[in-house]
Amino acid sequence: MLKRLQQKWNVNGKQFFLILCVFAITGTATAWLTRVITGWMGFTTGTFWLWQWLVRLGMLVIGYQVILLTVAFLFGQFAFFWEFEKRMLRWMGIGSRGSAISNELSAIGNEQRAMSDGRSAVSSQLSAAGSEASNLKSQISNLHPVHLAVFASGTGSNAQKIIDYFRDHPTIKSTLIVSNKPEAGVLEIARREKIASLIINRENFFRGDGYAGELKALDIHWIILAGFLWKVPESLIQAFPGKIINIHPALLPKYGGKGMYGHFVHEAVIAAGEKESGITIHYVDEQFDHGQHIFQATCPIAPGDSPELLAKKVQALEHTHYPPVIEKLVTNR
Ligand code: GRF
Repeated sequence: MLKRLQQKWNVNGKQFFLILCVFAITGTATAWLTRVITGWMGFTTGTFWLWQWLVRLGMLVIGYQVILLTVAFLFGQFAFFWEFEKRMLRWMGIGSRGSAISNELSAIGNEQRAMSDGRSAVSSQLSAAGSEASNLKSQISNLHPVHLAVFASGTGSNAQKIIDYFRDHPTIKSTLIVSNKPEAGVLEIARREKIASLIINRENFFRGDGYAGELKALDIHWIILAGFLWKVPESLIQAFPGKIINIHPALLPKYGGKGMYGHFVHEAVIAAGEKESGITIHYVDEQFDHGQHIFQATCPIAPGDSPELLAKKVQALEHTHYPPVIEKLVTNR
């Protein structure tokens, strides 16, 4: 029965499901609104039948149509229901030949029956709704992608991995590279990848708004630090609450803080005779390497490992884990 109706309407499965939803929601909403209106007008069982009948008829003739078109619009099905309404109006004798009436009558009858079928179909199609909803969600996200700004001052190997990972991503874009060093390797990556870049200066970063205005103007949603050595000012943290993260090449809270970057970290770890090191991805707060941890991964340190060898092991962890951790965080926005 439903299959025949779908063929008659000449719509695909997704549209058919949405149409049934529109019918079901409209029916429920009209009944509810009629109750609200009669209650508001003080109707009781003793109210003169004609008044009750007139209000109900008014709701059916006008209210139902308005609600139907509104719900249809919200579900992206306005065109289909507008045709439906035109047929309904013709049936009511507005704008068409009388000979069409009997045909239209049966069409309307079918469609009215579909409304009740629709209600039961809604429950049987609930599982389909899950995937429809996620499709719609990703379509919406496509229209409004999440824009990342990667802050880096070094060679930018992590920035490159992030760019590669999100290159064809449906909802997340590497939109901007920010650096405080005009000669940083990461800016060459930005040029090659045709990604916009912004070179910032100390005065504006620390005394101004931390470039929050420029970042907002570019519709940046998340700030990803990947080898950015300046402390992030409070103004920027407040402009992007919970949306700035950093990666540190050690297992924080050890071997973090001012001056703990690059080879200094690995030298300190080896000098302390640690048996393992790793990476920490964390939210950024007003202190160096201090915000709440999001993710850690470890690697073993063998006796005799040099700081250079440890740096390679840690870098491999960074490249493997930073992009997917970012994706997970960002998609749970
Ligand atoms: C990485 O080790 C990262 O943990 C730290 O800075 C380094 C950046 O390296 N925050 P690269 O420029 O991405 O190669």
